[in-house]
Amino acid sequence: MSRSYRVAILGATGAVGKELIELLATRNFPLADLKLLASPRSAGTTLSFKGETLRVESTDTSSFQAIDLVLASAGGNTSKALAPRAVASGAIVIDNSSAYRMDPNVPLIIPEVNPQEVHQHQGIIANPNCTTILMNVVVWPLHQVQPIKRIVASTYQSASGAGAKAMAEVISQSRDVLDGKQPNPEVFPYPLAFNLFLHNSPMTATGYCEEELKMINETRKIFGDSSIRITATCVRVPILRAHSEALNLEFHQPLSADKAKMLLQQAPGVRLVEDWQNNYFPMPIEASGLDEVLVGRIRQDLSHDCGLDLWLSGDQIRKGAALNAVQIAELLISS
Ligand code: A2P
Repeated sequence: MSRSYRVAILGATGAVGKELIELLATRNFPLADLKLLASPRSAGTTLSFKGETLRVESTDTSSFQAIDLVLASAGGNTSKALAPRAVASGAIVIDNSSAYRMDPNVPLIIPEVNPQEVHQHQGIIANPNCTTILMNVVVWPLHQVQPIKRIVASTYQSASGAGAKAMAEVISQSRDVLDGKQPNPEVFPYPLAFNLFLHNSPMTATGYCEEELKMINETRKIFGDSSIRITATCVRVPILRAHSEALNLEFHQPLSADKAKMLLQQAPGVRLVEDWQNNYFPMPIEASGLDEVLVGRIRQDLSHDCGLDLWLSGDQIRKGAALNAVQIAELLISS
């Protein structure tokens, strides 16, 4: 008889937490028990799972007793404080925060890229940064055939990366602007409705914000290739839940746009979307709610013989976070 698992979702009331609940249901993850954990603010509220009403519990250090697997998406500080407790209780933690991603003892997994590393954990497995996952699902199949020397990434990132409250803020600010009122930023530092700004993660001494450095450092770790050169400019745009990215890829040897399209048509987790006559390419509105990363507008870089340009859109909450975490869990239990 196949085994079933006692699973806790830490951060169950958040944007990613709610998606985790839906994915465990729709993908029929073998559950013996599902525990929904959040902050004391949400204790006693309810969420539904497969038609059942489940109560959300406040999290404390005893929350992980008799739990096999924790899917954590409650921010870095919560993970730092609670993941070691969960591991000490005998659980495996798949952590969506950035707290452990660059820890050499923690595998950083995109199932389409480095599934073989999933069992090298010591209790914690990290889910990569959302922008990095979406980029690498597309870049990896090309890199396998024609190694990449350098990536120049420009991102157009949705509000969802900053959580459920940030998504609600874009909607309420949009209403305010349409009503002729001043938009009132609370979660974000500046109004996002009818605006955009450079990504609001902390600035570093390098001149790159942390989000940009995550794309660089996490990609190198996931690819197992510290020589790959990456630069990124990350921008927040008034989109609810799908990120888009313009990528300029420089290969060591030329790779034709036709070959790249053929490779991406066959790649897992990717859908090619191109209708050149109608200027129809990936759009965040169409990527929202999908499992696949949409990619298109694949073309020769006219400024470089070994260069290609492409454009992608992918659901930040789904493949950028919750789906990738559930796929890691499925990998873990499949072998
Ligand atoms: P709560 O809703 O009770 O604040 P998002 O990224 O969408 O903002 O969601 C963050 C998630 O993390 C929410 O479920 C939130 O719960 C949860 N969370 C925040 N702080 C803690 C904490 N100290 N302990 C447990 N869960 C937390």
